[in-house]
Amino acid sequence: MTILPRGGAARFSRRASSRAPVLRPALHRVHAAATTESLTITTPDDWHLHVRDSEKIADVVPFTARVFARALIMPNLNPPVRTVADARQYRDQILSAVPEGVSFAPQMTLYLTDNTSPADIVDAAKSGFVVGCKLYPAGATTNSDLGVTDIAKIYPALRAMAEHGLVLEVHGEVTHASVDMFDREKVFLEEVLGGLVAGKSAVPGLKIVMEHITTAEAVAFCEDAPATVAATITPQHVLYNRNAMLVGGIRPHLYCLPILKREKHRAAVALAAMSGNPKFFLGTDSAPHPRGTCWGFPKSDSRCLQPLCACLSAILVTLTSTGNSYKYITRRMFAHTSYERGLTRLTLFFYTSQGAKESACGCAGVFSAHAALPFYASAFEKEGKLDKLQGFASHYGADFYGVPRNAGTVTLVKKNWTVPQTYAFGNDVVVPFFAGEIVEWQVEGQSI
Ligand code: NCD
Ligand code: ZN
Repeated sequence: MTILPRGGAARFSRRASSRAPVLRPALHRVHAAATTESLTITTPDDWHLHVRDSEKIADVVPFTARVFARALIMPNLNPPVRTVADARQYRDQILSAVPEGVSFAPQMTLYLTDNTSPADIVDAAKSGFVVGCKLYPAGATTNSDLGVTDIAKIYPALRAMAEHGLVLEVHGEVTHASVDMFDREKVFLEEVLGGLVAGKSAVPGLKIVMEHITTAEAVAFCEDAPATVAATITPQHVLYNRNAMLVGGIRPHLYCLPILKREKHRAAVALAAMSGNPKFFLGTDSAPHPRGTCWGFPKSDSRCLQPLCACLSAILVTLTSTGNSYKYITRRMFAHTSYERGLTRLTLFFYTSQGAKESACGCAGVFSAHAALPFYASAFEKEGKLDKLQGFASHYGADFYGVPRNAGTVTLVKKNWTVPQTYAFGNDVVVPFFAGEIVEWQVEGQSI
């Protein structure tokens, strides 16, 4: 059965099957849909993906490369991917992590800074492998400190992008401390994106992707904007609202940016993804972070000093709770020599596992590459919209970026499997989306 009128290879084979228990808290009330045993669609693309660098790359790239033909690789490394030379080097690293016999084409995007020049853009357009530039408002998200401090500073670069056919990908959140975390996307539309799309400061011809949209306002904005504006949608923003992250305890592995919003926004975003409107397409924003290391070893490793550090910290806490101020205790205990001061710092450093996902200040990002397509399939199926998956996952992104749709196909089969609690990630582990839970779909032939 052909699903989509615009060609492609989507096929259903329908058969009734019992509904399996699935997904965690039923926060997304969905209608029962006709069940399907398998679905074959044009090979998809992921138009928003983080694969990190160094030894971590090899642990995450294969998940995406085995299913998707292309992925737009986010440039927020430390230091960021700012030039064509950086992008070439990064692309080579990614390609060397692609498994034998798998064909995968990373699409690169440059990290815009206040200093990105029109000449940088011309170089990028000539490269043949850079397809866009990413706007991170400075301070908005992971490794965005060198991002753009004021949109006015990048107008020459934006005009050059429009002229040379590069797409602008936007992390659409303002960063002012005065704006509530849950309103940052909406305010960005009003304060920044509105002006860029229409009005006297608009850049004619500039193609813009609103990345990982999370609100009803962003959906409406995109729908009303000219055809040069589109949006990507992640699995977590289709499946979950903020209750999943906060009710009954904080779940750091569901914390991402833009943050999950209330149910009415999840519903609007899900509806957009499944609407068949070509302005909305797949971008997982799979963003792995190490769960938490200690001295470079996973917490499960016996060489990890975390228990010792936790112990030292507990002693401090106990002493302070007996009526002595922390300042007094630390001064008495550690502050007399630089060696002891160093020890205090080290203790606190390890105890808080700096830069890790499970820590006193955990990083933003959900890792979903291990089952990206099955997550979307589960969500679409529950709304009775599996027939809209192919357009969303495989056609609309390619059409918007002006690249040919992929020639091959992938087949999803309805088969329960349990997501592992962790996957290897460099010298640590990453806790995946749906860790320990059942997913109802899997990509045929993909080893899990
Ligand atoms: C991303 C990351 O970790 O790089 N995190 C996230 O929560 N989405 C950055 C980003 O896309 O905002
Ligand atoms: Zn991202």
